[in-house]
Amino acid sequence: DIEKKIDALMAKMTLEEKVGQMNQYNGFWDVTGPSPKEGSAALKYEHLRKGWVGSMLTVRGVKEVRAVQKIAVEETRLGIPLIIGFDVIHGYKTLSPIPLAEAASWDMEAIRKSAEVAAGEASASGINWTFGPMVDISRDARWGRVMEGAGEDPYLGSKVATARVKGFQGDDLSLPTTIAACAKHFAGYGFIEAGRDYNTVDIGNATLYNTVLPPFKAAKEAGVRTFMNAFNLLNGVPATGNSFLQRDILKGKWGFDGFVITDWASIREMMAHGFAKDGAEASLKAITAGADMDMESHLYISELVKLVNDGKVDVKLVDDAVRRILRVKFELGLFDDPYRYCDEKREAATIGSKANHDAVLDMAKKSIVLLKNEKNLLPLKKNGQKIALIGALANDKTSPLGSWRIASQDETAVSVLEGMQQYKGNTLTYEKGGDAYLGKPTFLTEVAWNTTDRSGFEAAKKAAASADVVVMVLGEHGFQSGEGRSRTNLDLPGLQQELLEEVYKVNPNIVLVLNNGRPLALPWAAEHIPAIVEAWQLGTETGNAVAQVLYGDYNPSGKLPMSFPRNVGQVPIYYNQHSTGRPTDADNNVFWSHYSDVEKTPLFAFGHGLSYTTFKYGAIKLEKKVYTKGEPVKVSVDVTNTGNYDGKEVVQLYIRDIAASLSRPVKELKGFELVSLKKGETKTVTFTLTDSELGFYNNNGDYLVEPGTFKVFLGTSSVDTQEAEFELK
Ligand code: IFM
Repeated sequence: DIEKKIDALMAKMTLEEKVGQMNQYNGFWDVTGPSPKEGSAALKYEHLRKGWVGSMLTVRGVKEVRAVQKIAVEETRLGIPLIIGFDVIHGYKTLSPIPLAEAASWDMEAIRKSAEVAAGEASASGINWTFGPMVDISRDARWGRVMEGAGEDPYLGSKVATARVKGFQGDDLSLPTTIAACAKHFAGYGFIEAGRDYNTVDIGNATLYNTVLPPFKAAKEAGVRTFMNAFNLLNGVPATGNSFLQRDILKGKWGFDGFVITDWASIREMMAHGFAKDGAEASLKAITAGADMDMESHLYISELVKLVNDGKVDVKLVDDAVRRILRVKFELGLFDDPYRYCDEKREAATIGSKANHDAVLDMAKKSIVLLKNEKNLLPLKKNGQKIALIGALANDKTSPLGSWRIASQDETAVSVLEGMQQYKGNTLTYEKGGDAYLGKPTFLTEVAWNTTDRSGFEAAKKAAASADVVVMVLGEHGFQSGEGRSRTNLDLPGLQQELLEEVYKVNPNIVLVLNNGRPLALPWAAEHIPAIVEAWQLGTETGNAVAQVLYGDYNPSGKLPMSFPRNVGQVPIYYNQHSTGRPTDADNNVFWSHYSDVEKTPLFAFGHGLSYTTFKYGAIKLEKKVYTKGEPVKVSVDVTNTGNYDGKEVVQLYIRDIAASLSRPVKELKGFELVSLKKGETKTVTFTLTDSELGFYNNNGDYLVEPGTFKVFLGTSSVDTQEAEFELK
């Protein structure tokens, strides 16, 4: 039915109007004010009126969206509605934790729900398409964009991708509460060299097929309606001009029938990459490679008509792209009612609602990871304790909102101080400890750290000296991760490490609450500080979530989705590595794979995370020792809550294919389950391994399940497991 409607519409379209559908403009001007007379905004208006714009991004709010939609619908010849895109990355206005933090929950239903809430707010604001989820796997904490993804593991990443797509899109895309999702950045962006944003990516097929592509494939299988290509080169070819990725794999092998949007000006950037000599060639290469919509390169609109008329681009390529774009517009119901996302009443009732605050608070608590808890410091006692709260980030209402949150307002997070003030049974003293950073960081500027002024140290030490417990909130500013925020150091920036060590001298009973958008390397803290809580940037409800966890009203269950290194020199460090030929020091000499100055293991491993209770694992149960290919392998274990609190545990299953035609990682996550256990309760957790878990992609991209010996590991983290073995015949 939709295809027939597309046929009928396309039959009426001129080539210019078709190319117009492939053009997306950023709406930076005041679209509700008078039409600008000159400059690029004037040109964009003119194009909009001619029907030369198929989509706009960053226009938001019912009033603005209605204004541009009205032009498209009422002033253009064919009245084709715009699709309105926006970066809804971790919530719209009511913010949930940064995506890396959400991934730490390992709670797929919570992640789905969080995306659903975000879609609800964004769609109430006129938006019908998000540029999310970002499903780039990355092993490089230097890269600021790890905050937007699900971490280092393709299996966890695939599950998270599925949950996010389902959350944004729901079961029915035409509902005014759901929005089209976008799996980005296709592909390889997470593997940029040296973690420097936009840098070159050069990876082999084994990594491409087994690590990079699986979450994209999962998103496709979950029904994601759009893909975004990427800024980077992949093995010499820009992702935007990459036919192998977009035509052969995505639209060919995977049969994707939605559309591909470029990243911002990425068609134009192919000239800087040295892949196209001018805009015409860049456009030719992009459309040939399968990029359907041009985000802000302004090149399809200026070059494609001529390229087609000159016989350089087959009009069939244009038709295919337009069909894909119109298909998604039809599915969104935009042709039935272009203003279906423009309901002022819903906008007022939905954005910032109590229900949304409750939902993001729930997600925030689930995202917290208890990294260390010695001396019984946590949970804090609720009465009669003297608590010193220290750190500029503890009294910050902007930083905890994190990066990539363009619809939200600064100063709208509940700070940790505000959260803790709600517990009135203790005496709480707050000391900033001096400025951590200077001025008011923004999305567009680098964060400037205080590296000289120690004048706040004394007051902090004084407060700490007389406290029973010191809570220190330290880490990165929310705008220190995200796009363009690469770092070569993974330490506590500015004077924070020094402040930590100074305070420790007067009172070692410190609970360190980390705020960060990426794994940090904190060996001193890991050795000396008795309790460490990974609190990322948790969004609008940060302070409430942190306080409820610190006071034990919520028992943490998060697990790290990325390895935390001992120092930056270990990066990239990831648990699912391949074995070298010399993995151990069997010969007791230096010629084995190691560092001479530091352990090769991570400081905190993938999958690590503690609880206020304790869990005991029984022995692994395997039904048999030998299985025939295709037969499900059932693995189970009894897990008992042996501590003093009800709690949740993420039971993790890893495998190793001992010898295969392509070396397999030493451990690969292939199953996990989040189990709730009351005090003293035991549950049996059963996993079923099938071909989809036991195989791998060879260098041609074929999926193989090979017979042989497999190890199976079950446990509480990637390094704390027990193992069994079976044969696959
Ligand atoms: O969606 C983003 C992308 O991730 C990075 N470049 C800009 C796009 C639109 O804002």
